[in-house]
Amino acid sequence: MGQRRLNRLSHADEDGRRGIGGPRSRRLAPIAAPAALGAAALLLALVWAVVWAAPAAAAPSILRPATPQAEEIKSLAVSLFVISALILLVVEAWLLTAIVRFRGRPEAEARQTHGDNAIEAVWTLIPIVLIIIIFIMTARSMDSLDLPGDDVNLQVVGHQWWWEVQYPDEGFATANEIHVPEGREIGIDLESADVIHSFWVPQIGGKTDLVPGRTNRTAFLAATAGTYLGECAEFCGLQHAHMRFYLVVESPAEFSAWVKHQQEPAAEPTDPAALRGKEVFFSLPCAGCHAIRGTEAAGVLGPDLTHMAGRLTLGAGTLDNTPENLRAWLRDPQAAKPGNLMPTPPLDESQLEDLAVYLEGLE
Ligand code: CUA
Repeated sequence: MGQRRLNRLSHADEDGRRGIGGPRSRRLAPIAAPAALGAAALLLALVWAVVWAAPAAAAPSILRPATPQAEEIKSLAVSLFVISALILLVVEAWLLTAIVRFRGRPEAEARQTHGDNAIEAVWTLIPIVLIIIIFIMTARSMDSLDLPGDDVNLQVVGHQWWWEVQYPDEGFATANEIHVPEGREIGIDLESADVIHSFWVPQIGGKTDLVPGRTNRTAFLAATAGTYLGECAEFCGLQHAHMRFYLVVESPAEFSAWVKHQQEPAAEPTDPAALRGKEVFFSLPCAGCHAIRGTEAAGVLGPDLTHMAGRLTLGAGTLDNTPENLRAWLRDPQAAKPGNLMPTPPLDESQLEDLAVYLEGLE
């Protein structure tokens, strides 16, 4: 680059600076910081409103806690959000003030703080103090999350991509749906059959990983009756997003009735179509993966189907459990949930109908 070109460039730069850093922008300086602060605050409020307004069913929010544990996590999250927002606002206000007020004023460079030990010590100490405060707040929250949770003991095993739910004291298994009695402490031992998953019901508590070869535990007080969406919170393969479940907190009486029903073996079909459907089930390799208590089907690779008709969803939250969806699932399990381990059963339409009728009887 020739010297003349360089000169021209630096002149252009000078002109530019005069344009931006001139008297006009100095006039703007007093309102720049408040305006920027206002805009940033508005943006943060907007983000907050969007998170808050998201419907619970579509996006189960940690901002709508249903247990003391989730309440604790929410208040920690809100505190950290407020602290972070304040830091952001102060830093941005300073930054914008500096940009507007000192632009194009070489004399301002004389006020550079580089090498000013006192100022550098202060802005090193402030973050250290903040981090200590955040550490203490977090440790206190974690401590309060620790509870024995031994009124009801469950064992949940993560599979690609569904949840095996064992009630060892009650002696039965189900899948993708957990029922617990309101007002009791629930403890869940978490294991994995394959890769790392993470158990998370946002309105109930924090995430806990399910790690192959070890048992982790999560516990919570089932404080408020309701049906809460849970999900896998650790990427675990193709259908990670379709690894969901429902946690149903119900009255102790409803829970006892549910347990009693779950303990029963599968209903024996009486309807001719259902009887034919049962034959179809046992003529195919279904029983190699699925268990139906009360029959010889005792597979453990897929969900226990003993009372599958009473569940809310199919395919671990992939489809609502409706007659049409059940038929669609049986016709081609890979259509709704590509990559899942259930092969497409070789069925003609009348066999498919009979099998669906049989499964619908498993209430
Ligand atoms: Cu299991 Cu993600």
